Amino acid sequence: MIPFQLNDLILPCPPYCLISTHKISLMIKATNIQKFYGDLQVLKGVNLHIKKGEIVSIVGASGAGKTTLLQILGTLDVQTNKKDSMLAVNGIEVTALSDKNMAKFRNEHIGFIFQFHQLLPEFTALENVCIPAFIKKTNRNEAEKKARELLDFLGLSHRYDHKPNELSGGEQQRVAVARALINNPSIIFADEPSGNLDSESADTLHKLFFELRDKFGQTFVIVTHNQQLADLADRKLIMVDGRITNSKISRQIESAINP
Ligand SMILES: Nc1ncnc2c1ncn2[C@@H]1O[C@H](COP(=O)(O)OP(=O)(O)OP(=O)(O)O)[C@@H](O)[C@H]1O
Ligand SMILES: [Mg+2]
Repeated sequence: MIPFQLNDLILPCPPYCLISTHKISLMIKATNIQKFYGDLQVLKGVNLHIKKGEIVSIVGASGAGKTTLLQILGTLDVQTNKKDSMLAVNGIEVTALSDKNMAKFRNEHIGFIFQFHQLLPEFTALENVCIPAFIKKTNRNEAEKKARELLDFLGLSHRYDHKPNELSGGEQQRVAVARALINNPSIIFADEPSGNLDSESADTLHKLFFELRDKFGQTFVIVTHNQQLADLADRKLIMVDGRITNSKISRQIESAINP
């Protein structure tokens, strides 16, 4: 009798490659990130370390490469020099993932908030918020319960059944925030999240980011032209022509990376 199957002898390959983060927890570790569009080099070797629970803003002139960088850090795009660069998000070396594992990782670990909320017009607020949970195969009752909790927290209890065109700009953006949070992501990337809002709605949204960090401990990376929001962040990174000019890391992080 054969006591085990051949497959039992093969150790399963881990889907993710774990990166050591030494003494403190890094949410983002990026080394030498470059991006070319044809001959045009848009990112010129970005190095970046972001701690868990940090709120980091990225500012810079139009065309400096902020969105390009955010899309790469958020795994929506890939750096051109995969072989001589490194990107780890929440301890996982994402460039090593297959497309399928990358999509799963993104769905479970990362939330996105865009300038134009990108809600689906034919779905209600509640349904829009549930979509990432359905992709994760969360059952309907559980997803809707969580979506209601988030919408309640964001002051939208009375808007569950409204479609995007029946909501104000600020309300639409808060629905997009709830959608970004439904799978409890470890990190949220926001690209001009308040770029389309009046100053009062923008203030409310900005305060919300800090409340969320305090309540759920999430990390935020926010690209913004809003000086007030940029200055509120724990750290403000300045991008000039494809480089972060002040990426000097704190001594605490440096000693953790190079003990
Ligand atoms: N798909 C693409 N093909 C070619 N060039 C691109 C592409 N995407 C962006 N670029 C170029 O890369 C540069 C950086 O673009 P990016 O969108 O990252 O800038 P940004 O800093 O986000 O600017 P803004 O503040 O205006 O949003 C720009 O010069 C842009 O024209
Ligand atoms: Mg941009």
